[in-house]
Amino acid sequence: MVQNPSPALQKWFSEDPPAFGRELREKLFYFDPEYIPLNHGSYGGTPKPVQEYFDEVDKRIEANTDLFMRIDLAPLLADVRERAANFLGIETDECYLVTNASLGLNTIMRNFVWNAEDVIVTTSVTYGSIQKTAEYIRDTPPNPKVSVMQLIFPTTHAEIIAKFRAHIECLVKARTSFAQNWGLRKKCNVKTAGKGKIVAIIDSIVSTPGMLMPWKEMVEICGEYGVWSVVDGAHSIGNEQGINLCEALPDFWVSNAHKWLTSKKSCAIMYVPQRNHHMFRTAIPTSSVYPSGSLKATYDWNGTIDWANYMAVNAALDMREWLGGEEKIWEYCHGLAVDGTRRLAEILGTQLLDKTENLEFTTMMCEVGLPISSSVPGTSEVDVAFKRKMLVERKAFISNYYHNGKFWARCSAQIYNDVGPYLPLPPPSILASLPLPGTSTDTEIRCRWKTLKKLDGSSSKFVRRLTRNSVARIRRERGRRRT
Ligand SMILES: Cc1ncc(COP(=O)(O)O)c(C=O)c1O
Repeated sequence: MVQNPSPALQKWFSEDPPAFGRELREKLFYFDPEYIPLNHGSYGGTPKPVQEYFDEVDKRIEANTDLFMRIDLAPLLADVRERAANFLGIETDECYLVTNASLGLNTIMRNFVWNAEDVIVTTSVTYGSIQKTAEYIRDTPPNPKVSVMQLIFPTTHAEIIAKFRAHIECLVKARTSFAQNWGLRKKCNVKTAGKGKIVAIIDSIVSTPGMLMPWKEMVEICGEYGVWSVVDGAHSIGNEQGINLCEALPDFWVSNAHKWLTSKKSCAIMYVPQRNHHMFRTAIPTSSVYPSGSLKATYDWNGTIDWANYMAVNAALDMREWLGGEEKIWEYCHGLAVDGTRRLAEILGTQLLDKTENLEFTTMMCEVGLPISSSVPGTSEVDVAFKRKMLVERKAFISNYYHNGKFWARCSAQIYNDVGPYLPLPPPSILASLPLPGTSTDTEIRCRWKTLKKLDGSSSKFVRRLTRNSVARIRRERGRRRT
């Protein structure tokens, strides 16, 4: 049931919800009519009811700021935390709001008291800035170590679980018989290890490739070996089915509400179970109640922010119930991610990265190969050119990246998408005019002609021109190299 809708929300909820897809997009979102948004995973997208509720709260703050900050804020904040906690199966006192996943994860990692013997475990697909957070801690005295577990897709959940267990086991063994275990430490990619603690940063859903990890099993393994588990759940809430943190029992967990929960930027939900409150010495920034001994007091106020961002979580939860609830949203978006990306793979002549029979890695994001030759290196030049082409020229976006020697796209499916937009996606024609190094052989030219003809039917003048220009450029480059 929708709970006590404010006037801004009542206006919406007094009507029947729109059907998912185009109708919903037109009624509930602000998208430029020409834009094809297939990248909800990066920054989310705020629906009109949420934005209007946010505006309502913001105006209330400005109408009498002191009243809001000093009197009204505390019960409103408690209400949002309680609803978010219920959603995740945890206690309100275990649920806190921060501005984004980066801040939540940084706060957790910087609250550990580090020793030189400690090890932080990450993977080769840990989100860039979170990997850098681990490296920053490594580079700061007393310099704990970082051990990176290599993770290459395609793979299976079973393989990841086995690999993670072996990695942790190796670190634990190296820790207990440090002097004799140089071989083990080398295997775990750690130079030294003593009797220190091990803290594993585990993605629930990797950013790129956008794959659902067997994170609950990985958390369980951490429990078995006395390893701390810090779950980067940036993509989880609203995207992953049936999250129950009380059952999964990670040591810490953070998820962005502004991504898949369709709340307002900037808000993330941070789970700190009661058993770990003692570890949490400070918020970032430090609160005026330090040292308070109470996480609630710490997070009731730790610097002036726009609290309306946090309040908007209420509106997002209300709206999702109005639209039919989490199961209905999951069925639609997951189904669309699979169908849309499969059709895209057919058109592009490529494959999905999730090769498991039951698509165990696939949530509302699905990964498809881009038809770029493997002779093209995954440089930032190619990456930037692709992004620019997509956004500026074609008004469409999928998140592109390079993994395991190939180019891929992460396609997000949301309640405002339908399968239509997947089809005229522009990669084939875009590829023709990218500054792709390493494509100057006749075979490559023939390949690109053939691919482009097949994929675009060379029906549009635009595509033909791009193709001609591209091939001419390659020939020119080849000529230059000969002379
Ligand atoms: C896995 C993962 N972790 C952390 C982040 C950081 O999120 P934010 O930029 O909201 O702090 C992202 C962002 O996309 C992410 O994908």
